[in-house]
Amino acid sequence: MSRIFFAFFYFSLFVFLQSCEIKKTNLYYTYDSESDSLTGHYERSTYDSDSGNVTIAKWIETIEGPLLKPPTTTTTTTTTTTTPSIDWTTRSCPNGWTKSSRGTYNYCFMAKYNQGISQNSARNDCENDGGSLAGFQTNSERTTMMKKAQTAFYPKNEAAAFSNVWIGLESSNCVKYKANSFSWMDMTDGTAGLNWASQQPDCTGSSQPCVVMNVSSGTFDDISCIPTNGYPLVGYICGLRANL
Ligand SMILES: *[C@@H]1O[C@H](CO)[C@@H](O)[C@H](O)[C@H]1NC(C)=O
Ligand SMILES: *[C@@H]1O[C@H](CO)[C@@H](O)[C@H](O)[C@H]1NC(C)=O
Repeated sequence: MSRIFFAFFYFSLFVFLQSCEIKKTNLYYTYDSESDSLTGHYERSTYDSDSGNVTIAKWIETIEGPLLKPPTTTTTTTTTTTTPSIDWTTRSCPNGWTKSSRGTYNYCFMAKYNQGISQNSARNDCENDGGSLAGFQTNSERTTMMKKAQTAFYPKNEAAAFSNVWIGLESSNCVKYKANSFSWMDMTDGTAGLNWASQQPDCTGSSQPCVVMNVSSGTFDDISCIPTNGYPLVGYICGLRANL
């Protein structure tokens, strides 16, 4: 009697415990790169809702063999980048600027009146416009801008039409009387637009002189970048590549 009772009791307890447990079995894999194999293990967590305890049972199974490798055939992807060719010859200058065609692109000039401006300020202003102090690739570019400057300056100050402006020539190593010891700030390297006055450049003042052009004669002179007080200096000429 008591045996049957106990058997029944344990059976009931079993059913009772079963009803309170939530069992969950998961399979976990770990990859070992040295042996190139996967090891799997199972974990069964048992949650007992009465105590709130979770028991984890863990057992190992090894999944034999190396991992499947990606195919050894290599796929070659060829990307051909074609840079769209921009036709710079169709680009225009900002309003009021004078356009000059330079074959593969257009260049824009602007003569600016500013009595006594320093070369550095003139240069900064041109750079703010997206260019530099102007370079001249041909005699035509130079004479055109001499006339533009005279026309623009004369009404403001008659004498200015016979005075000097900063232009975009610089030298890091001036050689006396050597025309080509200066280079254009606009990164061009043509020499056809050069027009040094006689006995110039004479590397005045410092080893890094700045250059002015007389807008009446069109001749260049290298002077100190910070001219002496009263030096006849009435403005500057900016240049930029047309990109509108
Ligand atoms: C549940 O956990 C508590 C605290 O860790 C422990 O005292 C108790 O014996 C555990 N009960 C069971 C049924 O494992
Ligand atoms: C500029 O050139 C003209 C013509 O040669 C000359 O008369 C004038 O004095 C020059 N201006 C300066 C500031 O040197």
